[in-house]
Amino acid sequence: MIKIKICNLSQLKNKNYFVTWVKKIKDEVIVFKNDKKIYVKSSICPHFGGPITYNQNEKHLYCHWHGLRFSIDGKCINQKSFKACLNNYDFELKDNYIYIKK
Ligand code: FES
Repeated sequence: MIKIKICNLSQLKNKNYFVTWVKKIKDEVIVFKNDKKIYVKSSICPHFGGPITYNQNEKHLYCHWHGLRFSIDGKCINQKSFKACLNNYDFELKDNYIYIKK
């Protein structure tokens, strides 16, 4: 197993989420906080690859290209026929840094 450093928790403060490309896993990831719990998911939409951000007020993830919305667990919530989910990553929090475990 390898651990890949993603970000420091302080980087979530402005928008309550942080997005970055992670070369080692060839994916862009989003780290966000929901009700004080941290999540790490792919931020590449499974529809056609649009950018995913986190809407803190409505507590869902949102794709800016065609408007699909995803629940915190990664399932599409506004188009029932769309079954693909956002990839979830296991992670570890150590000394205020988030590490993906792969
Ligand atoms: S690419 Fe995300 S909704 Fe189409």
